[in-house]
Amino acid sequence: MKILVIGGGGREHAIAWRLSLEGHDVYAAPGNPGIAQVGQVLATSDYLAVAESVQPDLTVVGPEIPLAAGLADQFRAKDLLIFGPSQEQARLEASKIHAKDFMRRTGIPTARFVRAESEQAALDALKEFDFPVVVKADGLAAGKGVIIAHNRAEAEDAVRALGPLLVIEEFLQGEEVSFIVISDGKNVIPFEATQDHKTVFDGDTGPNTGGMGAYCDGRILTGADTQRVLDNIIQPAVEATGFTGFLYAGLMMTADGPKVIEFNVRLGDPETQPLMHRLRGGFGETLYGAARGNVNHAGLTWKPEPSVCVVLAAAGYPGQIRTGDAITGIDAATALDNVQVFQAGTKIGPHGLETSGGRVLGVTCSGSDLSSAVRSTYSAVECIHFEGMHYRRDIAQKGFKRWRG
Ligand code: AMP
Ligand code: GLY
Repeated sequence: MKILVIGGGGREHAIAWRLSLEGHDVYAAPGNPGIAQVGQVLATSDYLAVAESVQPDLTVVGPEIPLAAGLADQFRAKDLLIFGPSQEQARLEASKIHAKDFMRRTGIPTARFVRAESEQAALDALKEFDFPVVVKADGLAAGKGVIIAHNRAEAEDAVRALGPLLVIEEFLQGEEVSFIVISDGKNVIPFEATQDHKTVFDGDTGPNTGGMGAYCDGRILTGADTQRVLDNIIQPAVEATGFTGFLYAGLMMTADGPKVIEFNVRLGDPETQPLMHRLRGGFGETLYGAARGNVNHAGLTWKPEPSVCVVLAAAGYPGQIRTGDAITGIDAATALDNVQVFQAGTKIGPHGLETSGGRVLGVTCSGSDLSSAVRSTYSAVECIHFEGMHYRRDIAQKGFKRWRG
């Protein structure tokens, strides 16, 4: 099939890599230098024009911004087959107030909350919560619209920084899990659960980022928990919305069971990198079926080996970043057994491949067990260099801690 991938980050490189391994003819817009090695890149964000000229059999969308802007509706209006939610369905991610009202209405378990539409309402609402309390901006904020406030002064600062449209909610305790499904509007196929690492420094410290690394291992959720998530969270959400696309429930596994921290209407980044590494086949065909409202349950097959992705970030990330640093060692890393280096914030500059974004590369590998996957991934990381490069050294360690007892 001819498949157009929308986006230009590490998630989209992983999607494009997987689809090209399956023999599909991959196009991408705006793409990146890594994607250019597995498909044809059209460096534009006029996605509709690209699709009209390429005439793909299927378009797959990576990021949330075009979905929230109604890209899937525009494609469907032109009879172009696209896998992704409508603008209305994308509000599950684009508006936290909408998402929380939706969960309350449909009985989907989530943190207790109050919606506030003015600074004064938010300050009043704070009285109903203990500390820490979570303050969330309503709109899309690339992971930067959430503040966990530990006292009244921090909470007031958060309200002023993020307001006036806010969700104030109870702080949930537990393990965070990313649970993503392919939905055709009625039926879903779940991916293996993954775990992201949101903060910039080891031990879950420092400011939040888009995600510093993720791993995929069959032990992250038990079969019983997976079923609970499907029955109590995913199916009610799909039934109420007719959702078509990747539906991502960011979960907190609390003592009272799984609760939704947030819905995303797309694949996670970097969760996609270990997921694509672990897939054995059937991705393109499954998405094609799902986009036509007829997902084939037998289509997607998995390798048993756990997989790991470590994100290499640019100097300054997640704050003010430096760009234009030369990147070396990707070839040496990929020469190692089973390693893929997915590119995110890269560009071709005067000296070859250079940094151009906060999250630069996602070094990804699998192994016979999680420890060996982690070891191999970090061996590959050591081959790579750019000025100011930093990364977490504890990706997947929380899994080990939990399973040891
Ligand atoms: P969100 O953008 O809603 O996913 O929030 C970003 C991050 O903030 C999450 O990945 C969690 O680590 C944290 N967070 C958000 N909401 C809560 C909550 N109610 N309780 C605890 N942590 C939260
Ligand atoms: N890694 C978290 C996200 O994609 O939202």
